Amino acid sequence: MNTVRKLADGTEIPLIGLGVWQVGDGRECEDAVRWALEAGYRHIDTAQVYGNEDSVGRAIKDSGVPREDIYITTKFNPSRRDPAAELEGSLKRLGVDAVDLYLVHWPAGGPTRAWAGMQQSLERGLARSIGVSNFNVDEIAAVLALGGPAPVVNQIQFSPFEYRRTLQDVSERHNIAVEAYSPLGTGRHLGDRALAAIAERVGRTPAQVLIRWSLQRGLIVLPKSVHQERIVQNLDVFGFELSDADLAALDALDRTGGTGIAHEHPWW
Ligand code: A2P
Repeated sequence: MNTVRKLADGTEIPLIGLGVWQVGDGRECEDAVRWALEAGYRHIDTAQVYGNEDSVGRAIKDSGVPREDIYITTKFNPSRRDPAAELEGSLKRLGVDAVDLYLVHWPAGGPTRAWAGMQQSLERGLARSIGVSNFNVDEIAAVLALGGPAPVVNQIQFSPFEYRRTLQDVSERHNIAVEAYSPLGTGRHLGDRALAAIAERVGRTPAQVLIRWSLQRGLIVLPKSVHQERIVQNLDVFGFELSDADLAALDALDRTGGTGIAHEHPWW
């Protein structure tokens, strides 16, 4: 399996990224990013509201890995007014000239509110690609109806337990790649018995099986961990394959009915 995917705008994105939601600013975040880069990750996913862009930037700089080899995503805090102005702040904190991907973090104030500012961020070269996060089927349609550069990514909460097949299908139909955040259910899914049985049979951990499922189902996947051995383990998923039967058994864990909804409990 390839380790990168081409997006609709022609750029390439590594299929696995380290997610740093709920990773403490400072030492915890710097260690996690450093371990990830040492392990071979080349994709880090942060956000303005995570409050740890500084630490991500410092770890990247200290790693010695060339900037152009690392794919950096951040997200617009939609409780602010101006996406491009907020991105300028992110770039300072991250210590880079541009991010690879800039997402509207959630559709605050309606799905189209931020889009002109996102397009401006792209046109000004502050972001190489733009996209959305936590957008439903209808909200994607509203953004596309505006015209101009379209989102190339929709980042949503996704796992076999939340197999949002309608949302994935609609996104892909519009050439919008789906990124899975909380692919381990923020850790809650790892104790599931059906998952554990598959993991034991294939000789992998439950986390590796969930990450592998995401890849084989066509997702870009963003597992989070602050432990070095887990960070290493979560990238070590290219040397095995889940069978069609195992994939189907995992698909059957879905509790959303294949929904087109991005989140059952929106916080906005
Ligand atoms: P920690 O950060 O303490 O290592 P998600 O990616 O769905 O948000 O899940 C993240 C949660 O799962 C975190 O609590 C993280 O714990 C835990 N986690 C991440 N990778 C693994 C792993 N390989 N084995 C066990 N737990 C993991």
